[in-house]
Amino acid sequence: MIRTGVSVCCLVFLLSSTLHTGLSGPLAGKEAWDYVEVRDGAHMFWWLYYADSQSADFRDLPLVMWLQGGPGGSGSGFGNFEEIGPLNRNLEPRKTSWVQAASVLFVDNPVGTGFSYADGPDKFATNVATVASDMLVLLRHFFTEKKEFQSVPFYIFSESYGGKMAAAISLELSKAIAQGTVKCNFAGVALGDSWISPLDSVITWGPYLYTTSLLDDFGLADVSSAAEAVKKAVEQEQFEKATELWSVAETVVEQNTNGVNFYNILTQEPDEKVVALAGEDYISLQTRRHIRPLHGQSLSELMNGPIRKKLGIIPQNVTWGGQAEEVFSSMAGDFMRPVVDVVDQLLEAGVNVTVYNGQLDLIVDTMGQELWVKKLKWEGLPGFNKLRWTPLDDPVSPGVTGAFYKTYKNFSFYWILKAGHMIPSDQGPMALQMLKMIIQQD
Ligand SMILES: *[C@@H]1O[C@H](CO)[C@@H](O)[C@H](O)[C@H]1NC(C)=O
Ligand SMILES: *[C@@H]1O[C@H](CO)[C@@H](O)[C@H](O)[C@H]1NC(C)=O
Ligand SMILES: *[C@@H]1O[C@H](CO)[C@@H](O)[C@H](O)[C@H]1NC(C)=O
Repeated sequence: MIRTGVSVCCLVFLLSSTLHTGLSGPLAGKEAWDYVEVRDGAHMFWWLYYADSQSADFRDLPLVMWLQGGPGGSGSGFGNFEEIGPLNRNLEPRKTSWVQAASVLFVDNPVGTGFSYADGPDKFATNVATVASDMLVLLRHFFTEKKEFQSVPFYIFSESYGGKMAAAISLELSKAIAQGTVKCNFAGVALGDSWISPLDSVITWGPYLYTTSLLDDFGLADVSSAAEAVKKAVEQEQFEKATELWSVAETVVEQNTNGVNFYNILTQEPDEKVVALAGEDYISLQTRRHIRPLHGQSLSELMNGPIRKKLGIIPQNVTWGGQAEEVFSSMAGDFMRPVVDVVDQLLEAGVNVTVYNGQLDLIVDTMGQELWVKKLKWEGLPGFNKLRWTPLDDPVSPGVTGAFYKTYKNFSFYWILKAGHMIPSDQGPMALQMLKMIIQQD
């Protein structure tokens, strides 16, 4: 199913591809990319950057897979050019690229995200079980094609809804490794600002905004009652209704905060304020709220211009980001389901789990993460709760606190200061240091 004819030609040096595409940069890093047909008519795109370190060969450094949120946000686009890839959106080298510490694999998932595409409306995933089984097909192909990565420690890092997918994928991957159907050295999963327990996020919005001077007493009452409605729907397992009510709760937040930015409460751009339109259906509203920030105009132009030209394998009728709304709406019935039990199963299976969260994130605020972590049935939880956290200096400002962290047995938590939802965009040096600590390369 993998297009082998294509994958050989795609293993290029950026330096040599420069000649053909006009992309330039001092990096000499090796890259590869391809599609895998993970189900009939469901095509998934991956893009690998080999680790580019002066002191170590890529075979001696871990491999990190990065999963973006949404669902429908593209790792090959946003994660790569706006967060952790070797080049930024202007194709200039990024000083805090994760490629200096690990090989990085971006996968546009679920099917329909980024350069991935579905051949028909029935090909989109509707739940995380399908998301995970699709990814397992991709990983089986990847580790078969790239045998040199089979023994390299493999980590899954994620952001937002990507964390919910990462948890499910990690569980399936650990089973597949035990059964011998995927050959890889799975070393852990990191859940960044992750949608593990959606209700715990929503019910803490009010208190979080109130203590940061973004709600008055009236606003707190309004947001709390909107959150109660979401809670009721979740408790009754009416998950599609809960997704719709989540959207309503966000509108209530926006109305009471004069349009706070859900991704970083301290930044507000006048032209990025979201206003719910009369009669607009909630899927289209949520796409504007949560997918559009990941698919800004200049990033879209880059991906659909020079990048698709450089890649050379994107079918003519596939637009980067073109199916994002279908990806999101297909998952609407799954969106508000919690996966705390999956995290418990991961810990039970001996998988190393890290949670990291940005202090200024509203959509997945840290208070909500604290709540679901305290619900874990993991036997190590009492020991974790007894530990005090340890401060970490901001790598660029010694003496200034950049984060706190705590590790007990197979579980770690990083509190990242002055960062919102997209931690590597907001605090690149701190995010890179955290990466190195988690993958044990510091
Ligand atoms: C692109 O065109 C092919 C062939 O006409 C078709 O089978 C496929 O479904 C189209 N894909 C998309 C994403 O529109
Ligand atoms: C999990 O992390 C610990 C260090 O905290 C490490 O010793 C262990 O090897 C890791 N487990 C795996 C499977 O990599
Ligand atoms: C990780 O979890 C497994 C399974 O519970 C356990 O055997 C192992 O000792 C744990 N690792 C650490 C570093 O505590």
